[in-house]
Parts: sequence; structure tokens; C-alpha cells
Amino acid sequence: MANPIYILNGPNLNLLGSREPEVYGIETLVDLEQRCVRKAQRLGCTVDFRQSNTEGDLVGWIQEARTNASGLIVNAGAYTHTSIAILDALLACKVPIVEVHLSNIFTREPFRHRSYVSQAAKGVICGLGGLGYELAIEAVAAAVSDA
Ligand code: DQA
Repeated sequence: MANPIYILNGPNLNLLGSREPEVYGIETLVDLEQRCVRKAQRLGCTVDFRQSNTEGDLVGWIQEARTNASGLIVNAGAYTHTSIAILDALLACKVPIVEVHLSNIFTREPFRHRSYVSQAAKGVICGLGGLGYELAIEAVAAAVSDA
């Protein structure tokens, strides 16, 4: 796998560790990135881990992933539930896509139960905290090697 797996994180995920720890845990975004880097190393692949609070940055990075990534892991934060622009960018991206959420969005408020991202994703992992990111890397790596 020559290209990295892009791991894109949306708004407010920069606050992990201090933001609603009872929902999102105490792991920081840096902890999560290190966890993903270690997991990728064990699988013989690499990750490019990014976060932005801006929808346009995420759209631009998804477009970049069309040519520069072997697969895509997306936690779009609240944009998951609102962004047709992110869905359209994902639909134009033909690499394997896995959607991740730290919390179980289905046990939370009803507005979190709908995900636009899911319509473009090969699979969805939620409610498992940082472990979900590791499982998503495993799933993307398997999808790439099957292709
Ligand atoms: C989240 C769930 C979203 O509903 C929320 O807006 C987030 C984080 C998660 O990882 O659990 O910002 O994507």
C-alpha cells in the first residue's frame, strides 16, 4: 500500500480529552493519532491524520484523497448529520471509506441518528472510542488488499 490512509476528523475533535469526557473519553486527539500511527505500523501501512473545524477543509481533503490516499476514515463530527457537501465529496472518492464515531450516535439525541456520511461509507463503527479508529484502519487495510 503505497499511499497513506487518510484519517479526517471534523469540528470540535481538537478538544478531545477535555470535551465532555463522559461522552468522548479522556484520550486527546494527539493520543488518538499516536494510537492510529502504531496500529498502522503493525499492519505495514501509514496514516495521514488531520483535524479541522471547517467544512471546506474537510471537503478539500476528501477531494485530495481521490488521488493521494489508499483509503479514507472519516469522523466528520457534527457535519456527519448536516453536510451534503461532505457526502458529495465522499461519493466522488472511490477509495474504501469507513465512518467512525467515538460515541454511539444511536443512543444519543435523535438528530445524531441520521448520518449523511454513511451513504458513502463501506462500513460504520461507533461507540467504541479510540478502538473504533484502530478497527477502521484494519477494515480499510483489508479492503485495499482485497481490491
Ligand atoms: C461524534 C458524534 C457527533 O454526533 C458529534 O457531533 C461529534 C463527535 C463522535 O465521534 O462520537 O462531534 O462524531
